Order: sequence, then C-alpha cells, then structure tokens
Amino acid sequence: MNKLDIKDLKKDEEIEALIKYTDAQLEHLGYTEHSVRHVSIVAHWAREIIEKSGGTEDEARLVEIAGYLHDIGNCVNRASHAQIGAVLAYELLTKRGMPYGDAAQIMTAIGNHDEREGNPSSRLAAALIIADKSDVHRSRVRYSRRTEEKAMGDIHDRVNYAVQSSHVNIVGDEIILDIVIDTDLCPVIDYFEIYFNRMKLCRSSAKVLGMNFVFIVNGGRLI
Ligand SMILES: [Fe+2]
Ligand SMILES: [Fe+2]
Repeated sequence: MNKLDIKDLKKDEEIEALIKYTDAQLEHLGYTEHSVRHVSIVAHWAREIIEKSGGTEDEARLVEIAGYLHDIGNCVNRASHAQIGAVLAYELLTKRGMPYGDAAQIMTAIGNHDEREGNPSSRLAAALIIADKSDVHRSRVRYSRRTEEKAMGDIHDRVNYAVQSSHVNIVGDEIILDIVIDTDLCPVIDYFEIYFNRMKLCRSSAKVLGMNFVFIVNGGRLI
C-alpha cells in the first residue's frame, strides 16, 4: 500500500472543510490568515528543515503532513487548538490507513506547535515549530484590514503588515529566518514584543535538530 502523503490530503474533502472553517472562525475572531496558504507554506518549510538537518524521507513526509494539518484544531476553538488538532489529526490519519506509530509522531508534533504550552519534544515538533513561527507576512493580514491605516490598530496586524518578505533558508548548520520589515510602519521592537517567546522557542527547537537558529532583520543578524 502506498504511504499517505500531503498530496493525498490536498485532495481530501474532509480536510479541505476543516481548513476552510478553521480560517473562517479565526477571521471572525480577528486573527490573521490561517488558510491553505499558511499551512502549505508551513508544510513546505517543515519538510525542508527536516531534510536539510539530516532527516529521513519518511520523517520529511510526516512533518509535511503535520504542517498541513497543524492548525485544524482552530476549527473547534482557538484555546488549546494545538492539542485538539493533534487528536483530530491522529483520528483522521489512522482512519486513512496511516500506521499508528507514524500518526502518533504527527500527533506529538501538532500538539506542541503553540508557543504557550508547546515544547520541541521531538525532531518533527521542532521543525514544525520553526516553520510555523516563521510565517509572518503582509499577506496574512485580512483584506478588510489591509490598509496602512487599518492595520495600525492591532499589533499583530501591524507587525504582519510591515513584513514585506519572510524566508527560511538552511545553510550548513544554521536555520536562518530572514525578514524584511518596513520600519516606517512598525519598529523592530514591536516584532519582538509579540514574538519574543516564539523566537526563543525557535532557538531551542533548532538545538533539538542539531542546528542553530539565526534571525536576520533587514540584513542585520539579531540572534
Ligand atoms: Fe497554531
Ligand atoms: Fe500555524
């Protein structure tokens, strides 16, 4: 039997519905974009981090799935969405024939991706954390608030709106988050005000992978 991979999940109606209504609920609550765009980017970066830190193809396949499913718990409730989503994902994946051990590893990764209660407790969890926390970008601000004036009201919108590009590059033993931020719209300190804990978690996650986390803002190395 073929091993389940992200391509199977991308054409799965049940998963499509969960991602659609995750984003709908978060839009209603005033959060930034959490659609197929966000989870596809996270899946892609998580795979790359595992591949380039010496992981196997099986690990890369599993972390890519974890990336794609990591936010579906938001379809239930924003609070504890990581843990809710982890259990949901385990059920969905085993129902589709995934071996229990593989689904359990994905459950651990998803259940730990949120910075409030999460820990890089496995290689997959570590890669998922870094990939998820790196997706800060103007395109995540909702269309209805995507003007300079409107985005200024909320610090998450303001920071995301100010980020003009955001890339994860892996060079040697460094996982580099390289962002370009418009400091006329948002001073760099605002980024740290809301994302300091995330950056600390990225640093400890990189260690689990035997790598170092580097954070570059407008060409200057901050971590
Ligand atoms: Fe999340
Ligand atoms: Fe996320």
